[in-house]
Amino acid sequence: MILARVLQLGLAAPSLTTRSALYENDSLSDETYEVPGGFCERGESTTVAFGRFAGKVAIVTGAAGTFGAACARRFAAEGASVALFDIRSPDEVRSELDAEHDQQNFTSHVVDVTDFGSVEAAVADVVASHGRLDYAFNNAGYQGDFLPVDRYDTEDFRRVTDVNLNGCFNVLKAAANAMQSQTPRGGCIVQTASMAGHSAPPNMPAYAASKAAVDQLTKAASKDLAPFDIRVNSVSPAFIGPGFMWTRQIELQAAAGSIYYDPDPAVVARQMIDCTPLKRYGTIDEVVGPVLFLFSDDASYLTGVDIQITGGIN
Ligand SMILES: NC(=O)c1ccc[n+]([C@@H]2O[C@H](COP(=O)([O-])OP(=O)(O)OC[C@H]3O[C@@H](n4cnc5c(N)ncnc54)[C@H](O)[C@@H]3O)[C@@H](O)[C@H]2O)c1
Repeated sequence: MILARVLQLGLAAPSLTTRSALYENDSLSDETYEVPGGFCERGESTTVAFGRFAGKVAIVTGAAGTFGAACARRFAAEGASVALFDIRSPDEVRSELDAEHDQQNFTSHVVDVTDFGSVEAAVADVVASHGRLDYAFNNAGYQGDFLPVDRYDTEDFRRVTDVNLNGCFNVLKAAANAMQSQTPRGGCIVQTASMAGHSAPPNMPAYAASKAAVDQLTKAASKDLAPFDIRVNSVSPAFIGPGFMWTRQIELQAAAGSIYYDPDPAVVARQMIDCTPLKRYGTIDEVVGPVLFLFSDDASYLTGVDIQITGGIN
């Protein structure tokens, strides 16, 4: 039985201005596309497990972004030291964690996950400064364009695949090497796939294909790494909001001009929620909870599993 207590985790929804430079050419509004109603409503988070990761060391990639920063905060709240990896500086997140947790060690690393050499060097730095590596949240990602396959930009297809699949592989490989060569050996890796990799939405050919590949990479790696006491699992979030990704997919799906979505973004938001059994989008902490469960000892017999965080879409 996990002990629980009230924690104020401050998992605020990110603003549209916190977006990565990868999206600097997007012209998005500040609309949040709130869709009222729904079932099993998520109010303010009141009880969470605590102390599960005391004394442990975690890498989080995409740590300057929405899920990465939220996961780093929760790892820190539960006692872990955290190394923050992102292609843009995660210093702001590190300063916040430093100010709130003086018993732990937080480091930030500007790392391009598509460059194996840079990933391997950063992982070596983490092991040198923190002493070992217990967990890796392999989460950096890029959503790409919203266009049908016949009009999809070849260069963007390559970029999406490079970040989401090759980048994921690079972090997985470097983390696995560190985990299997330490004493005691072992660790746990959680990768961020997506429901798009299972349901293959229209206008997202690169993203859907790359995330489907992450799912298979997770399953293959779980078999290869089991003999080294390393578990590998993934999560597949669907509609999570409000926030940058929610607004972006609504506005770009509306603009893509397909038979599947209305040209009015407010109607698209409704279309997306209407196909979700719980009739609402998920919150960021509803993603972080399952991620941290997979890292925890409560999941010690789970490997090669993908948790679909979808409000019932399957
Ligand atoms: N937000 C959602 O609704 C949603 C749904 C399903 C899956 N996902 C996946 O969750 C993960 C996190 O998404 P998010 O919502 O936090 O998005 P986000 O854009 O806020 O965060 C992604 C982070 O990855 C970083 N990044 C991109 N390319 C990188 C590279 N080459 N090297 C290092 N860092 C890089 C970005 O700088 C950014 O900080 C992604 O893999 C995304 O595909 C998100």
